[in-house]
Amino acid sequence: MRIVFCLAFCVLSVAAQNKEDSELSNPYEGQTTAIEAGQKRFREGCAACHGANAEGGRGPNLAENQDLKRKSDGQLFKTIRYGIPAAGMPPSPLPDNSIWELATYVRSLSASAYELSMPGNVDRGRTVYWSKGGCGDCHAIRGQGGLIGPDLTNIGATRTAKQLTEGVLHPDQHPVEGFRGVTVILKDGGRIEGVAKNYSNYSVQVLDRQGELHLLQKGDIRQVEFQQKSLMPSNYGQTLREEELQDLLAFLSKQSVRPDLKETRASSRHSGDN
Ligand code: HEC
Ligand code: HEC
Repeated sequence: MRIVFCLAFCVLSVAAQNKEDSELSNPYEGQTTAIEAGQKRFREGCAACHGANAEGGRGPNLAENQDLKRKSDGQLFKTIRYGIPAAGMPPSPLPDNSIWELATYVRSLSASAYELSMPGNVDRGRTVYWSKGGCGDCHAIRGQGGLIGPDLTNIGATRTAKQLTEGVLHPDQHPVEGFRGVTVILKDGGRIEGVAKNYSNYSVQVLDRQGELHLLQKGDIRQVEFQQKSLMPSNYGQTLREEELQDLLAFLSKQSVRPDLKETRASSRHSGDN
């Protein structure tokens, strides 16, 4: 009799436990202060195995990690709280709120800039984009702007905060396919500058700054010079003030072809729980 009771009780409590896991939700989701606090704790207690920027070491890379992206908040919390001792990941003795800060930081490393809501003033960032930054001369958003740089209409949804920041500050280190700067000198003395869209043994296609596409045959070409550096200025870290850069990044983080992305994801997560 007692055994039967215990069995029933245990089954119930396991079920309750599972339900609790999937319903655990992060009280700090996306909050900048929690991300910063979590990053500090991470450096203290996790970096020895996962790397100072979670790039991996004895433990796996936790940044831009697609497996982690699929885990629920509850699963992430439990991984940090209880560890995976058999695989060499120790449990953490920290209180719940510190674990949530760590989870918030870890999440932020794989979240798109859009999901993360980067701090800064979006309206002021838009002004920097179209005026002082001159970004619109080269980059289009929703059909407006230049073509010599990649289209940024969906950039917030497809890049992490770190990738976005890097892309703006260090274009030389992050070449984008199809946007390599090139100068073509023709046999008739003509000279065409732009980005190489296509390059083969027989021809080269160059998009110039006016947005005109030139299809050039090898027979007409004297010389093709590829630029080592990006056409994009690499000194925005100096020419823009700190707040201007923050505002600009906040504006870029909001660029998504599906502005309802966050809501859709949150509601599908809930319906999955039921
Ligand atoms: C002694 C080394 C070590 C320390 C310290 C450590 N980890 Fe780990 N961690 C690992 C290893 C090894 C794994 C991989 C386990 C496996 O293979 O399943 C792991 C896995 C993880 C995972 C799951 C990754 C995935 O892809 O599912 C997360 C999240 C994680 N660690 C976060 C943390 C956090 C946060 C801390 C600090 C509180 C921490 N770890 C401290 C070694 C460590
Ligand atoms: C003179 C043209 C030019 C200007 C001005 C310019 N860019 Fe770029 N940008 C490029 C090119 C070309 C690339 C592709 C990088 C490469 O391969 O050289 C690029 C790359 C980028 C990327 C990375 C895109 C990706 O797919 O990850 C971002 C983000 C970006 N630019 C944002 C900006 C912002 C914001 C400004 C204004 C502050 C700006 N750019 C100004 C030409 C420009």
